[in-house]
Amino acid sequence: MMMATIIAIDEMRDRGMSNKFMGEFRSAGLVAIMAALVVNLAGCDAGRAPAEVGTLSGSKLVRHHDARQVALGEQVFKQYCTACHGENAQGAFNWRQRDAEGLFPPPPLNGSGHAWHHPTAMLRDMIRNGSPPGKGRMPAWGDRLTEDEIAAVVEWFQSRWPDQVYAAWYDMQQRAQDK
Ligand code: HEC
Repeated sequence: MMMATIIAIDEMRDRGMSNKFMGEFRSAGLVAIMAALVVNLAGCDAGRAPAEVGTLSGSKLVRHHDARQVALGEQVFKQYCTACHGENAQGAFNWRQRDAEGLFPPPPLNGSGHAWHHPTAMLRDMIRNGSPPGKGRMPAWGDRLTEDEIAAVVEWFQSRWPDQVYAAWYDMQQRAQDK
């Protein structure tokens, strides 16, 4: 686009176009170049915007993660959850193995575990009441965190799930809501 305009300007000069006309043509060319750049930038932006993710059930979803909730959720997670679930929500390395008392170590919440098997309501419930409630090693947070903070921390770790994991969770969530 830019090359074509410059070549056109050169051709016109060769044909002895008046300086006044050349000036106008130059600024028109410049506007065209600017417009092309803007279109290109917009194109790049569209590339970065959340892409549509296809799910196994055939539905399409566009991921939206509320920025306020994600920021609050990260803060909550860093303050209360990293001690067990790890800095990056990666969980304990042996999270699949029950310990001597038959209880599970902290699982990953970053998408590599099975948190995506659970509808959002159940995830919030596990955080509110502990898991298994009153018996497991996952404490109950209902008296220390507000409902908004509980929702935010779920939104935060869900925002970190890879698209395929999120899509699988989404299908499951739709089925849970249909019931
Ligand atoms: C004292 C350690 C500990 C802390 C602190 C802790 N957790 Fe857990 N968490 C666990 C354990 C252990 C489990 C597995 C419980 C089970 O077997 O049911 C678990 C399970 C979970 C699950 C269910 C995941 C799944 O795949 O089923 C969620 C969600 C969760 N924790 C979120 C949190 C959040 C959010 C925080 C911070 C507010 C937190 N946990 C703090 C130990 C902890």
